[in-house]
Amino acid sequence: MDCLVINGGTPLKGEVKISGAKNAALPLMAATLLTSDECVLRNLPNLSDVQFMARILKSLGASVEMNRGTIRVRARKIDGFGDYDLIRKMRGSICILGPLMGRLNEAKVSMPGGCVIGARPIDLHLKGMRDLGAKVRVEAGYVHAKAKRLIGGESFLGGRCGPTVLGTANMLMAASLAKGKTLIHSAACEPEIEDLAKFLNAMGAKILGAGSPTITIQGVRRLRGAEHRVIPDRIEAATYALAGAVTNGDVTLRSCQPSHLSAVLDKMREAGVRIESGRNTLRIRPAKQLRSVDITTMPHAGFPTDVQAQMMVLMLKSPGISIITERIFESRFMHVNELARMGADISIEGPSAIVKGGQPLSGADVMASDLRASAALVLAGMAAKGVTRVNRVYHIDRGYENIDGKLRALGANISREPGQ
Ligand code: EPU
Repeated sequence: MDCLVINGGTPLKGEVKISGAKNAALPLMAATLLTSDECVLRNLPNLSDVQFMARILKSLGASVEMNRGTIRVRARKIDGFGDYDLIRKMRGSICILGPLMGRLNEAKVSMPGGCVIGARPIDLHLKGMRDLGAKVRVEAGYVHAKAKRLIGGESFLGGRCGPTVLGTANMLMAASLAKGKTLIHSAACEPEIEDLAKFLNAMGAKILGAGSPTITIQGVRRLRGAEHRVIPDRIEAATYALAGAVTNGDVTLRSCQPSHLSAVLDKMREAGVRIESGRNTLRIRPAKQLRSVDITTMPHAGFPTDVQAQMMVLMLKSPGISIITERIFESRFMHVNELARMGADISIEGPSAIVKGGQPLSGADVMASDLRASAALVLAGMAAKGVTRVNRVYHIDRGYENIDGKLRALGANISREPGQ
């Protein structure tokens, strides 16, 4: 297993191009199953999760051609229900449930278990399918959903921790080919949902209100092929913005969408970081004096859970006490113990991390536990004095395209080495 070795202390400087969004790409790729025509997606990030999803589409009988960020998928016919083992390995693959239901009125997908960031239930996905008239059984580790024909209905998709992103995506995809009209209440408002609706509408779907909590979908008989460009990755953008900030650097992000990042930029400004926002660019310049801020993760347009770990590193650099509260996932503080090895003073009280910032960090051997926790450890390594070795870096390759190359181009002293 590869590791990243970082010699910290260099302020980042220069420009970085933001890639297409992983969390938009996965449901968009799944949506290509809704038609027998060819679909083309551009600006796909080169990530192991994207390659994984391409393998899933192939295992379902689609022809898939991938070439430098462009994928052509043609699912003339869907054979069976794909390779269960493959589907089981990636949580994001739950978003094939909606397209299979839309196209075949039947789906069998493996039931995802919990993961390091907490329980990952799919009850709302299943409720959505039931609200469209499907019979859903969970048996021997699989979800089996079936209907004679999906019928539009009314569905409330709000859960204990707010709406569900991939649950909303599944519902949009299934309801697009259902008979009649569907109304979703408490839908997820994430930009990735808006992007999916845009693609589905280009395929001939009739979706109104995506990006708001109430979405209506008028079902259509068939969807056709379409082309679409994936939105920029707002989480990758936030990570590079924070990488600039924690190293006191001067970093310009290109090809990003600042309007998708309001909550993160607002909190970074509150912490003192100087930010200039253009239409598709952001320039991050060092704070005159960093300040501690409190953060609570929430569904969009609140502060994203996927940036909580990286923001914690900025708070470690900011003198004073910051309280970071995680409201989306129950145990998304796996990075805290690893940061402690680098000298961080953080204590966990229920869903909150109390960060005592302003003390120097020192390089250490640390272990990546999930995608965003790994990104935080890389940021901490760049902000620390000395050498940090981030082990199990495959987590990071799931969601950050060429992270070491991009950081090196900004002047970071980072290399990839084969691990133990
Ligand atoms: N939830 C339920 N029931 C459900 C589904 C979700 O109670 O049926 C709860 C979850 O336990 C959680 C909350 O609802 O407390 C939100 O979960 P959501 O369903 O929105 O998460 P997701 O759709 O499975 C996507 C991203 C995650 C991101 C979350 C929240 C993809 C592939 N994944 O997951 O991304 O953290 O939305 O924004 O789009 C990441 O990229 O590192 C990542 C984990």
